[in-house]
Amino acid sequence: MRKPFVAGNWKMHGTVEEARHRVWDMLQPLQEINQVERVLCPPFTALLAVANMLMGTDIGLGAQNMHWEEEGAYTGEISPRMVAEFARYVILGHSERRKFFGETDETVRKKVRAALDHDLVPIVCVGETIGERETGLTDPVVQRQVLAALADVRPEEVARVIIAYEPVWAIGTGLTPTPEEANRVHGQVIRAVLARRFGEEAAQQVRILYGGSVKPHNAAGFFAQPDIDGALVGGASLIPEAFVAIVRAAAEAKA
Ligand code: 13P
Repeated sequence: MRKPFVAGNWKMHGTVEEARHRVWDMLQPLQEINQVERVLCPPFTALLAVANMLMGTDIGLGAQNMHWEEEGAYTGEISPRMVAEFARYVILGHSERRKFFGETDETVRKKVRAALDHDLVPIVCVGETIGERETGLTDPVVQRQVLAALADVRPEEVARVIIAYEPVWAIGTGLTPTPEEANRVHGQVIRAVLARRFGEEAAQQVRILYGGSVKPHNAAGFFAQPDIDGALVGGASLIPEAFVAIVRAAAEAKA
């Protein structure tokens, strides 16, 4: 009942020309796998070019961040109104934003609210650091991040929100939790806290993605888990064949 979802987070990679080539190389095979909601999240500078290429397809487009204010004196920022001109999705609270750019639970909360107010689908990232994991803090940290990010979300809206569980130590490292460990966090921590806050029925509708070193060789293992509804893919989403293989694995596992 939850449509599988795979998004590619291109991070700060590539020019417009490189984005066009990458989309060109994946567009045809991606279009054929419509049992999966597929979303590309290029850098801001490539949004327009990619939007034009995706026109007339059911492949979605997302931004990687945004400000929560409509407009104003915020040099260098991009507002929800601006994002909504091109994209339907927006990644919020990625751990790289938290680590390098001072993003906090509080700013993520404001951004999630702003996204919903502009009919954008927020992809909210949560996850523990290696230090938190080693001191047994995974569950409370993830719970806190989810509750804070969704503090202003109403129960009837929560099904629109997508959560990405991305253990910080698994991002770009080639390390991953086992699929069973990831599924435990998805089900017994994230979905459980959503159920307490928004009710069981609403919690069952929220897609919870796994992110962190998802590759063609390990994707099927994650997608076989009942509470893992898809993936937020970094490095492998830059390689068209790899990204298509991951999307295909989601279609097969959730068929
Ligand atoms: P990698 O897939 O490169 O580990 O990145 C994951 C990620 O941060 C996606 O948002």
